[in-house]
Amino acid sequence: MVATPKIRTQVGIIGAGPAGLFLSELLHRHGIASVILESRTREEIEGTIRAGVLENWTVDLMNQLGVGERMMREGHFHTGITLRFKGQSHHLDMVELTGGKKVTVYPQHEVIKDLVAHRLAQGAEIHFGVRDVALHDIISDRPFITYAQADGTPAVLTCDFIAGCDGFHGPSRQAIPAAARKEFQKIYPYGWLGILTEAPPSHHELIYARHDRGFALLSMRSPEIQRLYVQCDPKDDIALWPDARIWSELHQRLETVDGWTLTEGPIIQKGIIAMRSFVCETMRHGRLFLAGDAAHIVPPTGAKGLNLAVADVLVLSRALEKFYAQGDSAGLDAYAATCLARIWKGERFSWYMTTMLHTDEAASPFEHRIREADLDYVVSSRAAATALAENYVGLPI
Ligand code: APR
Ligand code: PHB
Repeated sequence: MVATPKIRTQVGIIGAGPAGLFLSELLHRHGIASVILESRTREEIEGTIRAGVLENWTVDLMNQLGVGERMMREGHFHTGITLRFKGQSHHLDMVELTGGKKVTVYPQHEVIKDLVAHRLAQGAEIHFGVRDVALHDIISDRPFITYAQADGTPAVLTCDFIAGCDGFHGPSRQAIPAAARKEFQKIYPYGWLGILTEAPPSHHELIYARHDRGFALLSMRSPEIQRLYVQCDPKDDIALWPDARIWSELHQRLETVDGWTLTEGPIIQKGIIAMRSFVCETMRHGRLFLAGDAAHIVPPTGAKGLNLAVADVLVLSRALEKFYAQGDSAGLDAYAATCLARIWKGERFSWYMTTMLHTDEAASPFEHRIREADLDYVVSSRAAATALAENYVGLPI
């Protein structure tokens, strides 16, 4: 009989999304060893289309970590965003409002590719395609993870700490007893139908549009590819959205300003996502620390998801560094409270942008007018515009 492979590391990381990959990179910089267990293949994680806006400090962090070279070459750096409603366009100059901070569009899967390549070149252990990940003895000081390797062989990873970076559906959060978790959730009655289309960007910056027919967003991926979203029913079957219907809605919702036209091209990818806000209070149980989507979800308006995940692991890496270098566990003890204070602000901002920009059939005419007043306020008050801008480019960390 073949013995079960047993490996040992300092921090066992579950999930190779932005949270897990940034954490392993940050720990490496502090001389702390980690192993990542990821259920999907490298091709799958590098090919999944997600959001694409990086906060200003996330860009700085990528550069500090030496993984920013391609982003600086291929990313789109914008001075601001456009809000479009009631037939008018309003430019918010983020650079001017925030004293120099830019909007960076660089897709999440490109960030993933850069981090995976960098970690593997440093000799990191990332096990792709693992199955049946289970967490054990998390309240002891020798927690361990059991799993099946890609070839089906059972294996064990023992560690000092476990980082649950396995997204909303992963096993880590469930490993915390329900009685020790307090969960907050809001499900929105909106979905986003997202497309990639082979056409040069119709505008040099992002356009967020509120329209009686629903929200629409113009973004981009490269000089040849646009990313567009249109608000839909989250329960809609994609078959209800042939290309002609998508274009018709995008034209109606975005072309509300005289003389501006949306460029069409072949649709090369499309999909519908539902929208929720979710926070799990306590992000720590014994030696298990949750980070990123495992602990919190935001709706995509404002693209905070990746940035919140990276903020968590930056706090966690600093706390672990203190623990290993000085035997000081104060940072670990403060981890959940430190992260949650910032997370709730990200939740608030994502909820605010979502509510203000989407149309809700169930909302009363009064609420409808309040949302319009919110938008009017942002484009007519420097104080309101500054508040939006400082959240958009990223609150201090
Ligand atoms: N075992 C191992 N890995 C798992 C398991 C499991 N049982 N379950 C999930 N995973 C992996 C997923 O395959 C995924 O690659 O964990 C990873 C989690 O990555 P993300 O879902 O990207 O979450 P996170 O790293 O927290 O990134 C923040 O915010 O708004 C979103 O799109 C944004 O994905 C981004 C996220
Ligand atoms: C994207 O490009 O995918 C994107 C941009 C801005 C958002 C959300 C998503 O607010």
